[in-house]
Amino acid sequence: MGQVLPGSATTTAAVRRAIQHSRESMRVLGRRHGINPKTIAKWEKRESTADRRTGPTVRRSAVLSVEQEAIIVSFRKHTLLPLDDCLHALQATIPQLIRSSLHRCLERHGISRLPEVEGDKPRRKKFDTYPAIWNSQRSQIASAARALFTIYSNNVFSSMNVRWGTHPNNIGHNDSPGCFRCHDGNHSSNAGGATITNGCSVCHNLVMSDELHPKLLTDLGFQ
Ligand code: HEC
Ligand code: HEC
Repeated sequence: MGQVLPGSATTTAAVRRAIQHSRESMRVLGRRHGINPKTIAKWEKRESTADRRTGPTVRRSAVLSVEQEAIIVSFRKHTLLPLDDCLHALQATIPQLIRSSLHRCLERHGISRLPEVEGDKPRRKKFDTYPAIWNSQRSQIASAARALFTIYSNNVFSSMNVRWGTHPNNIGHNDSPGCFRCHDGNHSSNAGGATITNGCSVCHNLVMSDELHPKLLTDLGFQ
């Protein structure tokens, strides 16, 4: 896709990146890219190549990346854990996270107050209900949190609207047609000769079938 430059922009993102990654002097850089040294100095200082917004600024954290904010928001929404518990759990994944930046992040996203837990549902227990476990197994809890985030971030892609179960599991044919989308005995080649096979034994090794007392189960000690 082409880059649409705002009227005031004189440098493209690619040029800005080149500037940030370059160690050459400003004069050399300026000559190569045809840019005034002041502009170069400005982009060298910035971490991001995105233009600063000139309109009303979207409030967002200076210490947290967009991805980290997304992790925080979904963790809070899914677990409904209190602030300090979120902090402890999330620090394993976001080491620079401190209480105040977490609090501000939750406020920015309108989730700084937990919904009241109603009716007969027990109130969510805090970690500090189990201080002994928390104190003795802190590192295991932290690594469990890390593992959960790895699994989560390998499967849930909010920006693409993909979460658990968005797409069917096509391995096998139990939860969705899976292999049977083609291996249903109805798909044949244009010439009409070959049909994609659907015999169970193509994929399964049936070790017993319709036997009242299969020998195998006896051998394995199940009967
Ligand atoms: C094209 C390959 C293919 C064909 C043909 C096929 N299966 Fe399967 N089947 C699979 C796969 C792959 C799985 C999933 C295995 C897994 O998840 O570990 C599966 C899973 C199963 C399961 C579930 C096993 C479990 O532990 O959950 C059953 C039962 C089953 N097949 C029976 C059949 C029968 C009966 C037929 C014949 C009508 C058949 N399959 C034909 C590939 C096939
Ligand atoms: C998009 C269609 C499609 C899907 C889905 C599909 N297959 Fe196939 N499969 C084929 C075609 C085409 C062949 C080649 C058929 C042939 O040569 O007779 C084939 C052949 C096979 C063969 C070799 C069969 C033989 O006779 O040698 C196996 C094994 C097999 N598939 C397993 C699977 C399993 C397991 C799944 C599900 C996880 C699966 N297939 C899903 C299209 C599909």
